[in-house]
Formats: sequence, C-alpha cells, structure tokens
Amino acid sequence: MVVKAAELHYPRIPEAYWEHRILTCKALGMNTICMYIFWNIHEPEEGKFDFKGNKDIAKFCRLAQKHGMYVIVRPGPYVCAEWEMGGLPWWLLKKKDMKLRTLDSYFMERVSIFMNEVGKQLADLQITKGGNIIMMQVENEFGAYGVDKPYVSAIRDIVRKAGFTDIPLFQCDWSTTFKKNGLDDLLWTINFGTGANIEAQFKSLKEARPNSPLMCSEFWSGWFDHWGRQHETRDADAMVSGIKDMLDRNISFSLYMTHGGTTFGWWGGANNPAYSAMCSSYDYDAPISEAGWTTPKYFKLRELLQQYLPDGVTLPEPPAALPVIEVPAITEWQVAPLFANLPVAKQTESVQPMEIFDQGWGTILYRTVLEEDIKGVLHIDEVHDWAQVFANGKLLGRLDRRHGEFTLPLRTVLTKGTQLDILVEAMGRVNFDKSIHDRKGISKKVEVMTAGNQAQELKNWEVYNLPPFYEFVSDKDYQEGKAITGPAYYKATFKLNEVGDTFLDMQTWGKGMVWVNGHAMGRFWEIGPQQTLYMPGCWLKKGDNEIIVLDLKGPEETIVKGVRKPILDMLRKQTVMTHRQEGEALNLRGEKAVHKGVFTNKNGWQEVKFAQAASGRYLCIEAHSTYDKKSVAAIAEFDVLDATGKAISREDWRIVYADSEETNGGNFTADKVFDLQESTYWKTTERSACPHVMILDLGKNYQVSGFRMLPRAEKKVAQAILQDPEIIRTSSLQKLARAIGSNDAAVIRFCRRLDYAGYTDFREALIESLQYTEVVQLEEIQESDSIYDVLSKVCASNMQILNDTLALASENYERALDVLMHARSIHFFGCGDAASVCLLAYLKFSKLNRHCSAYTDPVMQLTQAGNLRPGDVAFAISYQGQSAPVNNAMRTAKENGATTICITKSGKSHMLQYIDIALFIATVDLSVGQDIVSRRVADQMIIEALYLTILAKSHGKYDRHIALLRDAIDRNKE
Ligand code: GLA
Ligand code: CA
Repeated sequence: MVVKAAELHYPRIPEAYWEHRILTCKALGMNTICMYIFWNIHEPEEGKFDFKGNKDIAKFCRLAQKHGMYVIVRPGPYVCAEWEMGGLPWWLLKKKDMKLRTLDSYFMERVSIFMNEVGKQLADLQITKGGNIIMMQVENEFGAYGVDKPYVSAIRDIVRKAGFTDIPLFQCDWSTTFKKNGLDDLLWTINFGTGANIEAQFKSLKEARPNSPLMCSEFWSGWFDHWGRQHETRDADAMVSGIKDMLDRNISFSLYMTHGGTTFGWWGGANNPAYSAMCSSYDYDAPISEAGWTTPKYFKLRELLQQYLPDGVTLPEPPAALPVIEVPAITEWQVAPLFANLPVAKQTESVQPMEIFDQGWGTILYRTVLEEDIKGVLHIDEVHDWAQVFANGKLLGRLDRRHGEFTLPLRTVLTKGTQLDILVEAMGRVNFDKSIHDRKGISKKVEVMTAGNQAQELKNWEVYNLPPFYEFVSDKDYQEGKAITGPAYYKATFKLNEVGDTFLDMQTWGKGMVWVNGHAMGRFWEIGPQQTLYMPGCWLKKGDNEIIVLDLKGPEETIVKGVRKPILDMLRKQTVMTHRQEGEALNLRGEKAVHKGVFTNKNGWQEVKFAQAASGRYLCIEAHSTYDKKSVAAIAEFDVLDATGKAISREDWRIVYADSEETNGGNFTADKVFDLQESTYWKTTERSACPHVMILDLGKNYQVSGFRMLPRAEKKVAQAILQDPEIIRTSSLQKLARAIGSNDAAVIRFCRRLDYAGYTDFREALIESLQYTEVVQLEEIQESDSIYDVLSKVCASNMQILNDTLALASENYERALDVLMHARSIHFFGCGDAASVCLLAYLKFSKLNRHCSAYTDPVMQLTQAGNLRPGDVAFAISYQGQSAPVNNAMRTAKENGATTICITKSGKSHMLQYIDIALFIATVDLSVGQDIVSRRVADQMIIEALYLTILAKSHGKYDRHIALLRDAIDRNKE
C-alpha cells in the first residue's frame, strides 16, 4: 500500500471541526491522517495530564477510523512543528542545567511517564488491536539536532514500553542527516519540500537500504509565517508534480500540512538564531486553508490523486465549507490599565527568568526602585522577547530580541528613587535546534554600563507574573473609558443573531493577545503579515459574546470587526527585511580576498578550505558568476569553520549586508542561509547582476579555516540539459522532467526564466540552435574513394564537429578561463589519441610561463594527481570520459582540493562527477567510419581558444617570455 497521508494537528483545529477536516482530507484522496502529539498541552503542569476535549487524541483517531482513514502517530517527545518549545513542556527548564533531548535522567524520566500516558490513550488503537494506527514515529528529525544513538534508542524503547509493540516504528530526517542516528531496527523516512528533486532526496537512502519501502514523511506543501516577514507561499504545480513523482515510484508520503489550521493561544513557536517568532495563523499555504476551505491547490492535487485510484473508484465530494459571518465593528470597550491591575509581587535580589517564578507563558514585569542615580546605558541580558522600559511610568524605549536589541541608552540621568519597570512579553519558545533551551523574561541580569564601561548590576526586584490565562485576564478592574496609551486590557460584548466562522480584524491594535468567550485566540502584532485572527464559529454563540484584548503597546483605535476573509499578507512597511539600505553600496576596495575558487554545479554540501586560516569577525562572500544565465545566486545553508575545521556556533550571527534579496513571491532574504532549515534559501533577484555579495557578522572574532555551503536543493534543470542537450530532441515535457529527475513545474519555470512561453517553445529553439534539424549526412568512406574524396569527407566531418561544439559553448568557458588564469599550476591528463592534445596543451600553456605538465602514462597520471593541492588545476581530455586512470586521477585531484576541468563529449559521462568545470564537445556519431578522430580537432580548438584568450587578456605580460621562446626555437633551427 502507498500511504497518502494528510498531516493535521488536532490542537490547531477546534474539536467541533475535526470531522469536517478529516472528511475534507479524505475527499482530497488521502488514505491516512498523520498527527503529532504535543506533550506540552497534555501536561501543562508537571504530573497533571489532560486528554479531554480538544486534547482527546483517542477521539481524534477514532474519528479518522470512522471515515476509513489510517493514522500515523508522531508522539515526539519533541515535535518541532512551529509549536512552543517544539512541544516540550516549559517546566523542564526550571531545572537549571537541563539538557533537553539527551539522556539527562530527569528529562528521560519525564518522557517515559508522558509516553506511558500516551500509551494509555492510544495503544489499543493500533491496527492489530482493531484500531487504525499503522505507524509510530520515534523522536523527530534528530539528525538536525545532534548525533546520539543511545538517546534515540532509549526513546524507541520508551515508545515500545508504552505499548506500541505491534506496529512499525520509524525515524524521520533530512536526506543529508538520516544516517547520523539511523537505528538498524527502525524504518527510515525522509522530509523535504515542494520543488525538491525526488530522486536525489532518496538516493542515499536507496543506497543504504536497497529494499526498504520509501516514504517522504513530510512533504512541505507550503511554509509557515513569522512576524515581520513576508507571507510564505509555495507553488501548487510544483507540489502536485512532486507528489506525482512519488506516486509514480510507489513512494509513500505525508503532506505537511494538508491543513495547517491555527496556532491558538500562546502555542506558537519561534526560530533562532535571529530569534523570530511565528504567527498565529498556521495556514501554511496548504491545500485546505486555515478556515478549512478548499483552495485551487486542493483541487489540483485532488485531480491528480483521482488518477491513481483503481478503475471505477471515485473520490467523495468534499464537505461544504462552514458558514462565514461578518461581525459589525465592536467600538464600546471597558478598560483595565495593566499597571493599575498588577497581581501580588514576588521578591528577588537578582533578576531571574520567568520559569524560576513558576510562570510558563505571557508577560512578566520586573520592577525596582533605584538606590542611586544612574546614567549611561541600560543593558538587559537578555530580553526574551519583547520589552518595554518605563521610568516612573514613562516609556523610555522598547527592545526587540528579533533585532538583538538588548541595550537602551539612557538619555537623562535617572535619579535615586526612580521606579524602573521592565515589562517583558514572552513570545513563542524556540522550537528548533539547541536554542529550544529558551528561558523567558530576562534570562540573566540587568546592568547599567557607566561611562568607563563599568557594569553595575541592578538588584532588589519585585516581579509580577502576568500569565495569559482567561481566568487571569478577565479578573481585572474594568472601567468604562477611552483607550489609554500604554499596556491595558480591553473588554467588550457583542451580540450575534447567527454564528459562523469569521476573521477578527486587528489592524488598528498594537501588540498582544485576544480571548473570545474564554478561548485564547492567539497573538496579534501590527507589523503583520497576519492582520486577522481566525475565529471559529463553534466558539461563538447567539446572543452576547465576550471579547478581551490585551494590548501591550496600545491601539491606534479600539475597533474589532469580524471580516469574511483572512488578511495574512499585509506586512507593515516599517519592518525592514532586507539587508541593504536604499542606495547603499559596498566598498571592498583595499580588501584582499582570503580565498578564491569555484563551486561545482551540483546538490549537496560543498566545503572550502582556506590555504591559511584567517582571523576576523565579518565574513564576506562574493559570487562573480552563476550557473544560471540570469545570474541569480542562491545559498540554502552556510557553515563557517573554525581553526580545527569545526562549524562555529551560529547563535550570534547577523547579516550585515546582502546586495540583493528576493522578497517577491516568497522570502529569500540572506538570513535564510543560517536558519538551519535546508529547504529555505537566500536568493538574489532576477534583475540584479553579479557580483552578489553577502556579509555575515559572526558575533565575535574567530580563526576561520574555511566554510561549507549547501546550494538550494532544487534540481538544476539547466545543468541536466547542458550535460545532455540531445535529450531534448526526443523528450516530451514529462519525459524530460522524469529523465533529469526533476518535475514538470520546475522545467516550465526554467523555460519561462529564459523568456520562453513554455517547454515547446524552448525545445524548438534549442533544437534549432543545436542544428539537429540539419544534421549533415556524412558519407561512408568507400573502397572506390580517391584520396581527395576521403580528404573532403574528413574535412566535412571535422567542420561539423567544430560547429556543433561551438554551439555547445556555455559560460563554463568563462569559468575555466578564470580558473586557468589564476592557477598556480596546470596539469593535463589524457590517454591514447587524447595524449597528443595533452602535449599540445602543455606546450601552449608553458608559453604563458605557467608551471605545467602533461601526463599520458596511467601510472604517472595516478601518481601526479596525488601531489595536487588547492590552487592547482587538473585538466582532463577524454572524449568518452571512460578512461579509468584519468577518472581516478581526477577524483584524487578533486579530493585534494585542486580544481578539475575536462573536455569531454556532451551527454552522460561517468567522469563528470569528479569535474568542477566541463567543456563539452559535440557527440556527432559520424557515419564515415570508426577511425575518424574529428574530436581531436575539437579538443584542439578549445585548447587554442583558451590559450589565445588568456594571452590576449594578459596585457603583454607574456610577450617577453614568448619572444625568448621564439628565440630559443629559432636558435635550434638548422
Ligand atoms: C520539520 C519538522 C516539522 C515542521 C517542519 C516545518 O520538518 O519536522 O515539525 O517544523 O519542519 O514546517
Ligand atoms: Ca536555510
């Protein structure tokens, strides 16, 4: 069976709508529901479990079973999911030296207690016991977190011990990380997103386990939104064709998300470094929208899935969308200023994080009365996550962790006796990577930096806990009145004659949270992109409804209305996302590059080692050319290596500058290179030319020995076609996409980028330019041919291959030229008749006063390749690319860090895997007979061209040398 799973998250859907969403997934063509279990909603306080109502996981599974759907359960303990702390309970952080997701004994003890509770709920629902649970996951993408098989094994054992003994257990990871913790007795599955190359994603898994069933455990239909960043979307066609590719290969998948829903209340997570909290909407640009509506993406996918049903079977119709209402503007409010409604305070000498005061979420106020005058800079170490500083009730400033704002210069002296208030709002706890140890409030201390840079810690604080619970926010002294400046609670009632879903428009409010009829709806923030909160009709009632708004910043106008459509993409202009100011130009004159080199045009990490470690705090990388004709540069992930070759921590990284960042139709800002997500990337705009520059601030000085770069994982359509242009002649769109391991949408996107209307246009143009339509039929050489006939046939053969080779010329020539001009030494490798070209090349490049050599003997080839180092060039000449010694030499050269160039026939060639820059000669299978080696003239043409170009561009540098040579040659003449 192929698993076609729809990922749904029960707490992101009101319980009353579970069935509606399950039915919508079924009508889409799915046969399984895939679900996480969110530990922190089930155990809000240590030892107190809750599996009722919206948390009733057994009920959720049974509803799926009622409609004939299987269930895959992913119980964590860690789940990521853009969920507060990745699903882990905050109270684990009360333990000061807590090491989450390790064998820490307290952590493991709590995990197993929780897992046993899950077992009580779900073990009886395993398919072997009459239920519908078919698979169970162990941990989540642990390879992106660390290497710790003992830990992962222990989690596996805990899951089994909780009663999940009958069904297969599996691990999910990225294609680049799955081996790190892969356990022998578990199934391995891979996660990746829309647009990825399916073959490449499963390549190493297939190699490691040739007989394993394949599954993409998370195929990302869209992506999640952050506050202050562009709304994310992903192409529907690319998603559908990715799924088609999998179905055609019998690969199971889970579409993450099929319906994202809403992260209600305070459950949204965050990413770090560059702390960035997630929006409340988890629409995800999924096929089923946040409010459960079918979308064009839904129907495109449904059409595809329909084709994979047995004959005669049709999909049920999707259930009707739920009714939508408008709520007229609510304008009459009661107000309860936050500072006039404080709870009882706790005392502490030094500032401590929120967890120490037994508070999990919400806002916390730290208050002290100054014991002496202070001036200088206030340093809050650190603000987690958004702070407002007040002196005697007057706002001094706001600090935002997202921008690393932890200091506030004091404009005036704050005199002894001043009441200093620091009001800190906790946004989501980080849900990914090591920063999940994210303590809230003020994590360490508050100090004043005086003129001489003396730090003086402020002591003796009162602490006020302001949790986000309805019981807390409703229990305030609300008074009739107008909006106030500063933080306050607002309460109103509104009447409804009919109920239905709606979207609360919060555009005129500042920053805070909303509760309706006791339900915490979620966070709002004026910066966007989300401006409305999804309000399910099932939580409204006929007659009076109550709404409470906590606005920590203060509204412009106190108006809330319910609108019929969500606003998820209105980013307010004041937030700058890109890293280059209007008109800002970078001046690198006077800077010397530590390293110059060329990346290969292929998927996967590429590592660059500097000849010598360099020391510094800022790293600038400059791209001079791209493999993409449009000069679009893209990097998915970036590591900087310290003196020992280990990746340095990205905790304090910042992008200082990026010359160009695409923000239309997606988020491709430069900070995506260190967000730890391999599927997100920095991309420059199509309008900007090379060079492209990015400057990273590493936070402090490091000894840097090199870096690692992961290109975007998308299939390089151009690369595939360049390697084998002939494929175009015989391929339909689908066939081509299949053959090059890409998908239809990517190919079409590629053609459009080159300004063709579509694939057909592109294909015709390419065929024409390759002159395939006019292949000259060369005649066989006959016994009766005179020497002149043969001469003319050889000539025709030569001319054709030269022309066709010319037609294949790509920007690789420029790259080869660049590398050859800067090479320390150049070594040519070739066997058989290529040996002659080798020697010719050797002679030519020697004239350029370059250290050169030519190796035509297999043993010499292998020996010499081992001596090459970065800065050297190994240059192979091999028509078939099948000469074992030359291939081995190229592999060795590349392993040693030399740049490898080859001249070889276009089309698939074994050698290409070891080659950085390939120059192709045409594959003309001449009918004039096996013995014509026209390709030699093509090789020579290329060598001559490279040599002559370098000579021409070298401003007479070699004139003297060449004159000397000529002299020497002359003297040797008889
Ligand atoms: C990973 C995680 C998921 C989710 C996605 C991004 O695959 O496993 O929980 O965070 O990334 O949406
Ligand atoms: Ca990334």
